[in-house]
Amino acid sequence: MTEKYQTRIGRKALSALAFTLILLTLEGSSSALMHQGSGSRIEKRLFGKLADGTAVDLYTLTNKNGLVAEITNYGGTVVRLKTPDAEGKLGDVVLGYDTPQEYESGTSYFGALIGRFANRIAGGKFTLNGVDYQLAKNNDGNHLHGGIRGFDKVVWQAQELRRPDGVALRLTYLSRDGEESYPGNLSVTAIYVLTNKNELRVDYTANTDKDTIVNLTHHSYFNLAGKGNVLRHELKLNASRFTPVDATLIPTGELKTVRGTPFDFTRSTTIGSRIGQVDEQLTRGRGYDHNFVLDKGGKQLSLAAVVFEPTSRRQMEVWTTEPGMQFYSGNFLDGVRGKGDDVYNQRDGFCLEAQHYPDSPNRPEFPSTVLKPGKQYRQTTIYRFLVRGVQKQP
Ligand code: GLA
Repeated sequence: MTEKYQTRIGRKALSALAFTLILLTLEGSSSALMHQGSGSRIEKRLFGKLADGTAVDLYTLTNKNGLVAEITNYGGTVVRLKTPDAEGKLGDVVLGYDTPQEYESGTSYFGALIGRFANRIAGGKFTLNGVDYQLAKNNDGNHLHGGIRGFDKVVWQAQELRRPDGVALRLTYLSRDGEESYPGNLSVTAIYVLTNKNELRVDYTANTDKDTIVNLTHHSYFNLAGKGNVLRHELKLNASRFTPVDATLIPTGELKTVRGTPFDFTRSTTIGSRIGQVDEQLTRGRGYDHNFVLDKGGKQLSLAAVVFEPTSRRQMEVWTTEPGMQFYSGNFLDGVRGKGDDVYNQRDGFCLEAQHYPDSPNRPEFPSTVLKPGKQYRQTTIYRFLVRGVQKQP
């Protein structure tokens, strides 16, 4: 082999190597770009153990804009939700705990999925097809949020999903016939999607093998400032009526106009501006703990509420297919020790729980909560996060 030939081979090999290197580099950078571009991801880790030793997981969903939702399969609970403020700084906007055992013993329903029947049923009683059912009376003589061990206190099966619109966690739970004294095997699915449009979307479906009642909701306590009380948050509710309650927070049956009452949020008003007024309904609720009759509720996905917090300039929209919205101003928070060193006092968080009206099984005039075999329960609620004043948002 001549020297010249050897050199030629060497050159060829070198240029092939260089070509390969260039290709590899290009590929590397393009996948990095792709990662940046479609950078949504989902990671799973151990959250901890329940009192009986059962291990539960924590899923971290990140969308392509960097928003983060941490969700555990215990109770389908949103543990953290990080959204940007006006400076682009991410901050956690929900209340919660650091460990599964605190969720287990907690009584506030922080961030959880609620079922089989969200909100109250008078005396825990209802009649279906001529059969009387007696549910647990776990709240002032009434049934609340599914009973002693509602869907917020069970372990859901979880599956990670990657979807074109974002990342998702699919949670399923089979509530057996007779569980918490409800009739019928109810198979429930809740899909949390953290979309690239900065929404936390919850799609619920449920099927039964026997006539039953269903009312599902999500129970995050929001604080768009991240801490302190929520009295300066401005709230708009697209509801011109609400359901007044008796002394134990059961609807009286009346759909009352909000006009001229502290319940009028048809124009954006701070939560705190009228909460201290002398008003029988506010006294009964210890503040706001009422179901609002959504003007466009129950038909198609519609804008139900807008909340704005002036210091962070965070804004949250709530869209839902449900007919009602329980607005709860955190009245029962009484020094609850939460995440980190946080202590949650009265009005340090608010809930907007999209649902059917409380006590519907005893109110035939309210939209029905009966589910029959062969029919599917469906519900969608979206919490969309924006920053007011920023022009271009996803
Ligand atoms: C719901 C109820 C409230 C209260 C909270 C949890 O919002 O309507 O009365 O029970 O849940 O504390």
